[in-house]
Amino acid sequence: MSTYAQEVKRVTTHTLQEMKNRGEKISMLTAYDYSLATLVDTAGIDVILVGDSASNVMAGHETTLPITLDQMIYHASSVVRAVKRALVVVDMPFGTYQGNSTEALRSVIRIMKESGGHAVKLEGGQEVRESIIRILSAGVPVMGHLGLTPQSIYKFGTYAVRAKEEAEATRLLEDAQMLEETGCFGIVLEKIPAQLAQKVAEAVSIPVIGIGAGGGVDGQVLVLHDMLGINQAFKPRFIRRYADLHSVITGAIEQYVTDVRNQDFPREGESY
Ligand code: KIV
Repeated sequence: MSTYAQEVKRVTTHTLQEMKNRGEKISMLTAYDYSLATLVDTAGIDVILVGDSASNVMAGHETTLPITLDQMIYHASSVVRAVKRALVVVDMPFGTYQGNSTEALRSVIRIMKESGGHAVKLEGGQEVRESIIRILSAGVPVMGHLGLTPQSIYKFGTYAVRAKEEAEATRLLEDAQMLEETGCFGIVLEKIPAQLAQKVAEAVSIPVIGIGAGGGVDGQVLVLHDMLGINQAFKPRFIRRYADLHSVITGAIEQYVTDVRNQDFPREGESY
């Protein structure tokens, strides 16, 4: 075991609960591969989400629906091999838990055995309660996801802010309370009004992590490729760009192409 591995104290679901209890904010980012997960973990993130946004970011699909369980396991196992400190949460892909709780448990067992992830996340409220109970009974920590749940995009018809109307806001609050009562260790709230998100975070004792849900929650999550500015096409107001890797990477590649064409690469010192 390396010195680093000995020194690092792993983040667990209990760590996150203690952070909420102390009023410390939780940081969470997505990652889908070994190299970037290494950087994200080394930089000190608390939670890495192997999101089904891999369907968009890594595979170029329009929605999260096409990604398969095998593909999620491939991404998650690559991330797990990189991570020494963060809690690794793996998204359950569309179609692997909605059918019934037996199917949900079977999918989770594959994720846990084959990827080595530490917890799973799934979308929905009351309609997935039985699946959550079954997964928790197998000893696997579950994170809920409410608000704009991308696997339901064809039901919503748009990526606009959810739960602006009172009826949907009330249902969302009830679903959050149900997720807590069932035993989920946390909840992601996506693209809902900041006031409602804060109300949910105050109403439940488990950590609530927001994406486009304002600052009144217990932590924040963003898609890595969006916040690093690799993906420039997608720019909703909740994304803050912390880097412009699109320019950095294309600039470096353009320079390499020029150097090869001009026979400036490789030079003598770069040859054997
Ligand atoms: O798949 C994903 O990246 C997510 C985040 C947007 C929370 O679920």
